Amino acid sequence: MSLTPLHRSVHRPRGWRVALGLLALLGVTSTAQAAEVAIACGGGGDGDYCPTAARAWAAQSGNSVKVVTTPNATTEKLALFQQLLNSHSQDVDVMMVDIAWPGLLAPHLLDLGEAVSPAEREAFFPALIEANTVDGRLVALPWYTDAGLLYYRQDLLDKYQRPVPQTWQEMTDTAASIQQAERAAGADEMWGFVFQGRAYEGLTCNALEWIAGYDGGRIVEPDGTVTLDTPQATAALTEAASWIGTIAPRGVLNYTEEEARGVFQSGNAVFMRNWPYVWSLAQREGSRVRGKIGVAPLPHGPDADSVSTLGGWNFAVSRYTDTPEAAISLARYMTSAEVQRRHALNNGMNPTRIALYDDAEVVAANPTMSVLRPVLMNAVARPSAVTGEAYARVSNAIFNGVHAVLSGRTQPAAALADLDQTLTRLKRRQW
Ligand code: GLC
Repeated sequence: MSLTPLHRSVHRPRGWRVALGLLALLGVTSTAQAAEVAIACGGGGDGDYCPTAARAWAAQSGNSVKVVTTPNATTEKLALFQQLLNSHSQDVDVMMVDIAWPGLLAPHLLDLGEAVSPAEREAFFPALIEANTVDGRLVALPWYTDAGLLYYRQDLLDKYQRPVPQTWQEMTDTAASIQQAERAAGADEMWGFVFQGRAYEGLTCNALEWIAGYDGGRIVEPDGTVTLDTPQATAALTEAASWIGTIAPRGVLNYTEEEARGVFQSGNAVFMRNWPYVWSLAQREGSRVRGKIGVAPLPHGPDADSVSTLGGWNFAVSRYTDTPEAAISLARYMTSAEVQRRHALNNGMNPTRIALYDDAEVVAANPTMSVLRPVLMNAVARPSAVTGEAYARVSNAIFNGVHAVLSGRTQPAAALADLDQTLTRLKRRQW
C-alpha cells in the first residue's frame, strides 16, 4: 500500500524526528514552508531598486520572489491593481501603492496592524502612517516619500545672471528670456519649462501645486468643501495655460515624469517640475546636465507660499494572497531602515523613517534632502483621505478639466466653475 505524505510523516521513526528538531534548532532547516511571493513594483524612473531589494529578501529568508513589472504612469498602475484586486486575483501578493490610494484600495488590503507594533510605527513620519491608515486599519507601510521640486540649470542662470525664481511670474520671465537667447545662439531645441501635463495623476499633483500655491485652497478641503471656483484658482490656471507652446513644448500635454526628465536631462530645458528621484539620475555619469543643475522649492503666486504636493510609495499586501506571512515579511523588509538607507544612497529616494534624516552618510549623498526636508514638512496632500473611494473619480475630473484648459479647449474660469460643480455633485453622492 502506498502511503500519502501525511501517513509518511506520522510514521516517521522517532530518531528521525529528533534529528529534524535538532537541525531546526540549529537553524539549518526551517519548519515554515518556503513560499513564492509575487511583488508588483517598478516601471517608473525610480532606478528600479525594488526588484533588487526583493531578491535580497528572498535570498535571506529562503523564499522566492516573482517581480511583476507595472506600467510607468500612476493612473495606469492603479487601473492594473484595481483590475487584479476586483477579481480577487492571486497573481500579486505585495504591491507598491501610491500615497493617494489607501482610501481607494483599503477593502482589498490586509491590515498590517498586528504585524507592526505601535512602537515600530513611531519610527515613520506620523503623517505617512496616518495616510496609510483607513478606518483604523494600517493598510500599507511607507517606503519613500516625495514632494514636487523645481529643478533648474544653474549654468544658464549664471550665464544670464538670473536668480532662482521665487514666483511663477519670475519663472515664466526667466524661462522665456533664456529660451530665446539660447535659441538665438543655436540651441534650437531649448525650452523654458517642462512638467507633467498629460491627463493623469501627475497633472492633478501639478494643478494642486499651482492652485494652492496661488493661495487658492486645496481643491477639496479637509472638511469636504470644494473650492475650485475662485479668482486665485483661475489666475493659477491662466498662468499655467500661458506656458503651452511658449515656454513649454506642446508635447508637454502628453508628458509624465519620465518624458519631462528626458528633455531636461538631455539639456533642453531651463526649468523642470519633478520629484526628487530625478536628482541622482541627472547627476550620473553620462547625463548631459551633470554638475549643472540645482533644486529649489517650487515657485508660488503673488503674496502666497510655495506649495508642493505630497507624493510617495508604500507597500501593501493583498487580502487574496495565499502566502500572507511571507508577503507581510517582504513588505516589512522593503520598508526596513536597511533597505530605505540603501535606496536613499543608491537612488536618492527620501526615506520615510525619521532617523535616516540624521544619518550623516545619507544626508551627504542627497543634497536634495536639505531642500526637501522643509518642503516635505509643508507638503499638501491630495484630497484622497476626504474623498475616500471616490478619489479616482475626483482626480480624473481634475486632470481632465485642467488638461482641457492647458490644451486651449476651455477657458480657465468656465472650466473651474464646471469642475467645481462636478465635484460638488460627486460629493453629494459619495463623501
Ligand atoms: C510620484 C509620486 C506619487 C504621484 C505620482 C504622480 O510617483 O510619488 O505620489 O501620484 O508621482 O505621477
